[in-house]
Amino acid sequence: MNKLLYEGKAKKVYQAEKDNQVIIYYKDDATAFNGVKKAKIKNKGALNNKISSILFKKLKEKGIPNHFLKKLDDRSQLCQKVKIIKLEFIVRNIIAGSMAKRLKLKEGTVPDNTIFDICYKKDDLGDPLINDHHAVALNLCTYDELALMYDLTKQINTILQKAFLQEDIILVDFKIEFGKTADGTIILADEISPDTCRLWDKRTKEKLDKDRFRRDLGSIEEAYVEILNRIQ
Ligand code: TMP
Repeated sequence: MNKLLYEGKAKKVYQAEKDNQVIIYYKDDATAFNGVKKAKIKNKGALNNKISSILFKKLKEKGIPNHFLKKLDDRSQLCQKVKIIKLEFIVRNIIAGSMAKRLKLKEGTVPDNTIFDICYKKDDLGDPLINDHHAVALNLCTYDELALMYDLTKQINTILQKAFLQEDIILVDFKIEFGKTADGTIILADEISPDTCRLWDKRTKEKLDKDRFRRDLGSIEEAYVEILNRIQ
């Protein structure tokens, strides 16, 4: 049995055979509002494993360094071991979610610019929105590392926006995380799935992501299946 290194809200991380590799196992558990709302969504683990594998493979082909090595089975993938940088990079192409709420803007408003947020990954503080200077003061990274991660985030947005649009899906916003390998290289890590993106059908604007769970809209599994079917 592989050693469990870490268990998060939606995934478990096990030590792989090689020291510098891990096995990431995708669970069916879903949480929202910093763990306050909890449920199991049937097949979510398998669906997110498939979706994230496809997207990380595509990003690697396009030159974005990332932890994904290969999909192992229905619910797990082999990845490079990294130390996660305690920052969430959020990109907003369309205003929705917490930004719409906090600034009293209409969800669906298209801004003239692309919006980049960073949040401090700390559950007991509720992952607060911070700025670049806070991140450096908290010793999460250096200014140079921030610049690199923003640059990668921008490239990732361009690649994903285009890939989703080809399947008539609008990439409204998303969250990504980076990690450091043993030699200090920063690479994209974690997952990219309907748990971590807002995805709207281009024609109907129907929500095909975790907002169906957050907002009790029903048909959650069906929405994730729809995303998988379109991108694969
Ligand atoms: P937000 O509008 O709630 O700030 O979310 C922005 C994007 O980040 C959205 O696509 C969902 C994603 N997200 C996560 O992946 N994990 C989280 O814990 C939160 C709050 C948002």
